[in-house]
Amino acid sequence: MASSEDQKRKAAEAALAFVKPGMVLGLGTGSTARHFLDGVARLVQRGMDLKGVPTSFATAEVAKELGIPLTSLEDRTPPDLCVDGADEVDPKLDLIKGLGGALLREKIVAAASKKFVVIVDESKLVSRLGSKVPVPVEVHPFGWRFAADALETLGATVELRLKDGEIFRTDNGNHIVDARFRSLPSPAKTATQIMSIPGVVGHGLFLKMADTVLVGTEKGVRTLRAARKPTRTS
Ligand code: 5RP
Repeated sequence: MASSEDQKRKAAEAALAFVKPGMVLGLGTGSTARHFLDGVARLVQRGMDLKGVPTSFATAEVAKELGIPLTSLEDRTPPDLCVDGADEVDPKLDLIKGLGGALLREKIVAAASKKFVVIVDESKLVSRLGSKVPVPVEVHPFGWRFAADALETLGATVELRLKDGEIFRTDNGNHIVDARFRSLPSPAKTATQIMSIPGVVGHGLFLKMADTVLVGTEKGVRTLRAARKPTRTS
């Protein structure tokens, strides 16, 4: 039986088929994206001209160790392709991301990219968003308590994210409030409500953004394509 790690690796390997010489790649964050970085490094070692825009300090660090040349969005060259993992994928290919804490940069890079390919193992597929994981909400430290209370009035149970007993800090110096909703009948409405809370910098609902989701399974890789046109903003 293929372990979840094997499934992640299979999905990441399948994403390499989208990579062409000369591309600028958005490089995701997390354990599945890490497999993709390994594959990109192999292509670079074989001489393929590729550059990456990392979505976190951790990914930048690994990419440097692997010899993947890096660039940034400052160059104003939109990445041709962004490849990243996800925490939940629903049947419409809407996502929850950010359990790894990199949601803000991940969303910016995905939004800036011409194509967004998501790589997951089967455990990430859900029939409705929010059924397994909370929605991570990145908040400015000054207003986190206010934002957390406002999220509660939207019906969420909230928790300030901690790491090793300390308040977790994102790469942007912010806090994360994990908001668990009993149900999310309209993720788009909830996304708008979350973004309207002063102090909220971003959230992990990635709606209508993914073009393709590659799902690693025991038998191989399933390709899910979005029926709608991606909007790149959510
Ligand atoms: C990080 C993310 C990751 O893509 C997400 O948490 C999935 O991680 P993994 O591939 O380790 O399961 O959104 O902010």
